Amino acid sequence: MPKKRVLSGIQPSGKLHLGNLIGALENWVKMQDEYDCIFEIADLHALTTGYDNTKNFKNMIFDVALDLLSVGIDPAKCTLFIQSAVPEHSELHLLFSMITPLPWLERVPTYKSKIEELKEKDLGTYGFLGYPVLQAADILIYRADMVPVGQDQLPHLELTREIARRFNYFYGEVFPQPKDVLTKVPVLPGLDGRKMSKSYGNTIAISDSPEVLQAKVMSMVTDPARVKKSDQGHPEICPVFAYQEIFNKNQTPEICKRCAAADIGCVECKKILAEVLKNYLEPIWMKRAKLVQDKKKVIKILEAGAKKAQQIARKTLKQAKEAMGLQ
Ligand code: TRP
Ligand code: SF4
Repeated sequence: MPKKRVLSGIQPSGKLHLGNLIGALENWVKMQDEYDCIFEIADLHALTTGYDNTKNFKNMIFDVALDLLSVGIDPAKCTLFIQSAVPEHSELHLLFSMITPLPWLERVPTYKSKIEELKEKDLGTYGFLGYPVLQAADILIYRADMVPVGQDQLPHLELTREIARRFNYFYGEVFPQPKDVLTKVPVLPGLDGRKMSKSYGNTIAISDSPEVLQAKVMSMVTDPARVKKSDQGHPEICPVFAYQEIFNKNQTPEICKRCAAADIGCVECKKILAEVLKNYLEPIWMKRAKLVQDKKKVIKILEAGAKKAQQIARKTLKQAKEAMGLQ
């Protein structure tokens, strides 16, 4: 039996952070061993919200490629490429736009919530409304069986299946129905206790230096009840503890007990965490430092990935056009 195909994407909208790593990338790295994985750096998607300032786009795309390769995305096991390097996505997006009713797009929850979240931007654009149509093209052009995503992306997957069904209904069976694979992981809090997100400025980047990492950990909010060391803590509401649970499993029960008994101070607790994170990230930093020295190699990896992806994308696009009566 051929391996099932997995497709996922990530926007190059800033350096990747620990939340991305725990929430998605570690899962991608695991899936490479079992499935035919295709991973894209979704630069066109980033353009839908970042179109007004693209000066730094190239660097941002490259940074994400470095991040992905340094956390263990392995071009020998998967296909990694930049979305805009495979223009077939854009063409299929256009074809899908012909059959996608406007109300389907207007009712996608991320559409309204993003406009609300990014009030300072003009997102009343054609491209932004079509964001999930582009995502459907990303997924369907590879006939992906499975799409690992976070909870917020489920409506996009539902729309993808609806577009596939509508296409097949009009023109004949061309596209399969992709399944979403929800990544079940605890949400990593940011430095301030809210969800870790670039837009909150509360992230720890994978590529932060050891000094920055240390400073960020020491600045994290903790249980507000712990003003003095002698105050008893409630680890279950403390963001630092949430990290201990993920990155420092062995010591977690002890820290939990000592915090509740006012036997460990937050400074000591944070120092332990900073050390654990440093050890965890060290191999990633080393890999990244090597890749930074060899940019040509990274470019080659992305080019080879685009070529491989394009071979598949071309075939599907051809079928879609034929089915539609274009060729
Ligand atoms: N919309 C996804 C996100 O913001 C990124 C993405 C683009 C994607 N194309 C995709 C995810 C295809 C899964 C499949 O996280
Ligand atoms: Fe949080 Fe650790 Fe302080 Fe307890 S000791 S409140 S777990 S930082």
